[in-house]
Amino acid sequence: MSQQLEQVKALTQLREKARLGGGQKRIDSQHQKGKFTARERLGMLLDEGSFEEYDMFVTHRCTNFGMEKETFLGDGVVTGYGTIEGRLVYVFAQDFTVFGGSLSESFAMKICKVMDQAMKMGAPVIGINDSGGARIQEGVNALAGYAEIFQRNILASGVIPQISGIFGPCAGGAVYSPALTDFNIMTKGTSYMFLTGPKVVKTVTGEDVTQEQLGGASVHASKSGVAHFAVDNEEDGIRVIRDLLSYLPQNNLEEAPALHTNDPIDRLDDSLNEIIPDSPNKPYDMYEVIGSIVDDGKFLEVHKDYAPNIIVGFAHFNGTSVGIVANQPKVLAGVLDINSSRKAARFVRFCDAFNIPLVTLVDVPGFLPGTQQEYGGIILHGAKLLYAYGEATVPKVTVTLRKSYGGAYCVMSSKHLRGDINYAWPTAEIAVMGPSGAIEVLYGKEVAASENPVALAAQKEKEYRDAFANPYNAARYGYIDDVIEPRNTRFRIIRALQQLATKKVTNPAKKHDNLPL
Ligand code: HXC
Repeated sequence: MSQQLEQVKALTQLREKARLGGGQKRIDSQHQKGKFTARERLGMLLDEGSFEEYDMFVTHRCTNFGMEKETFLGDGVVTGYGTIEGRLVYVFAQDFTVFGGSLSESFAMKICKVMDQAMKMGAPVIGINDSGGARIQEGVNALAGYAEIFQRNILASGVIPQISGIFGPCAGGAVYSPALTDFNIMTKGTSYMFLTGPKVVKTVTGEDVTQEQLGGASVHASKSGVAHFAVDNEEDGIRVIRDLLSYLPQNNLEEAPALHTNDPIDRLDDSLNEIIPDSPNKPYDMYEVIGSIVDDGKFLEVHKDYAPNIIVGFAHFNGTSVGIVANQPKVLAGVLDINSSRKAARFVRFCDAFNIPLVTLVDVPGFLPGTQQEYGGIILHGAKLLYAYGEATVPKVTVTLRKSYGGAYCVMSSKHLRGDINYAWPTAEIAVMGPSGAIEVLYGKEVAASENPVALAAQKEKEYRDAFANPYNAARYGYIDDVIEPRNTRFRIIRALQQLATKKVTNPAKKHDNLPL
């Protein structure tokens, strides 16, 4: 064998060694936990044969605790680029088989390299996290590595989409990189995120809690809102990531890809003409409205289990990717509270950053009153949503289906917050507050003093309803551009989006805003 052939053979052997990560035993252990390895995950995520790996021969440089005797090619993270549906993406997948996927200085440099490349090329970054956090033996170098990643997450925010799959533990400060990215997808039963694990919690607060209770997928998807998606297994997680990307542009200077659809733009749905119940206090299901009007009934919901009184997610209208924000009358009457305001504000800002038009479906009785909300800062959190809509410069189409009361009227993409096209159904009610509250404020004393308080209150409510429980009062002032037939909503939204496709609006120049955090 020639010397050159021997060198080529040695390369192949080195590659084989690198592909084994921490060794077959640890790969088997990963599989026994119901988890895939870093390379298997990238194989599922990327288009077949598209993955090109960087830095396969990188090793750590730590000499503490005899670490120099234990090195693995690649040092616990697989990085590189590939394509998803033919579109360039940069990726990293932490390899739990090497020091528990813990992060060393070299490991961090590898991640930083793909993030820097992604910024130069204007392509999304997808990270799969499965790690014991900072590599303890590396001390401050591991912490420095995390901070280098955080800095890149911050600069990339709003420039390229950043998506985190959490497919294993994500402990310590490691949770902050995913927190800085746009979407977190957690697998149920095999992933968790927390700043400190159960043992530390027990020492500090005395609380007994399992990893799952403290930071499992369900906790973060429904209670904290840290996770945008909780999925049953890794295959589902990969599907969500691929699906999500289909709604997003490559970067903030581009638009999301248009999708071909056979769904006719003028498809009418007669059932929408009868979906609003006669009684104003009876709910209906906003998912039915969304499913009826979007292309092929396909809707990718974000934050499904968190603050379900508001619905946010992606859909297409005649192939154009849009972000939908909709009050859900079936949950807490669709009221705006702290969590729903935060959820929707974050979504609106994401869409605005990435040129994704917003379609807002309104049926909101107002903001939730009470001490719990006030002490929790509903004023600030509600202001976030107000701010998000007001600063958004993407096309904004709003349809008011039924209630739109009080501050919530202003907030939900109203004409006054630069809503471009504001439609209302004939069932819309737009007023400062609902009839019973209004009558109590205006005529409470008169009603109490009357001989027949019930009859007087009913009469006053009727007068109020006749005056305000309709869209025409707002339409008279031009705050509603048109009152539309519900069954025609899809067509009218598509026409509005077509008209707004060339919209150009800029906000005043500033260093950055001062969003009420
Ligand atoms: C070095 C680590 C490690 C770490 C795990 N390993 N975490 N090595 N540094 N942080 C190694 C283990 O020694 C073991 O090596 C292998 O990875 C697998 O770990 P196991 O404990 O056997 O696995 P498992 O039982 O599944 O438990 C996984 C785990 C646990 C829950 C993640 O390892 C754990 O609690 N690790 C520490 C988590 C933590 O507290 N991190 C905080 C870091 S502080 P062998 O050789 O046996 O295979 C931090 C601050 C960052 O992150 C701040 C940024 C601002």
